[in-house]
Amino acid sequence: MIISSHKIMLPSQHRTIRFRIPTVDDASDVCGLVRNCPPLEFNPPYAYLLLCSHFADTSVVCDSDDRLGGFTGAYRLPRRPDTLFVWQIAVSGDLRGSGIGQLMLSSILAREALRDVRYLEATVTPSNSASRRLFTSFAERRGCPIVLSAGFRADDFPGGNHEAEQLFRIGPL
Ligand SMILES: CC(C)(COP(=O)(O)OP(=O)(O)OC[C@H]1O[C@@H](n2cnc3c(N)ncnc32)[C@H](O)[C@@H]1OP(=O)(O)O)[C@@H](O)C(=O)NCCC(=O)NCCS
Repeated sequence: MIISSHKIMLPSQHRTIRFRIPTVDDASDVCGLVRNCPPLEFNPPYAYLLLCSHFADTSVVCDSDDRLGGFTGAYRLPRRPDTLFVWQIAVSGDLRGSGIGQLMLSSILAREALRDVRYLEATVTPSNSASRRLFTSFAERRGCPIVLSAGFRADDFPGGNHEAEQLFRIGPL
């Protein structure tokens, strides 16, 4: 189901991007997109099946020219359901920097069923400048406070070879 459609400006052309609620049929393409979006961590395909089914109402995919251009996997925190936690966000390399990341976040929050969501949270590594800018700019554009605090420590991660993640909390929206 298409929920909205936007024209975006790329260096050489305009493209129409369609935002949809994901379905199980999207999971395979989502896996392909995430694999091609370092430094995003690729998780087992089953995780993407869950995001595209159980968490579809709080996630989004977008298409450009009939191929998957972007994906955001998110869910409400079970103990604080007024908070949307953005687990992974990815935009195809050729479409970056044209506002799709921001539009995906807005398209989730604009849903009637998420009217009561007041905060957005995500954890971001200090080295991921695109992701840090995405969330900071999202807060600035909405005039919302943004609070940064310690998220998961490096040694919280099994295996021990992961950067620490800082928690971004945006809101009240
Ligand atoms: C992070 C990511 C989703 C951003 O998507 P995007 O569609 O390019 O983002 P937008 O075009 O909406 O840009 C949002 C802001 O970030 C800025 N930005 C985008 N890419 C940037 C980069 N590489 N470095 C610095 N800032 C950047 C934009 O200029 C914009 O800021 P502005 O509003 O002040 O102009 C995309 O870069 C990506 O898929 N990266 C790989 C996967 C990843 O790291 N995901 C995040 C971890 S979960």
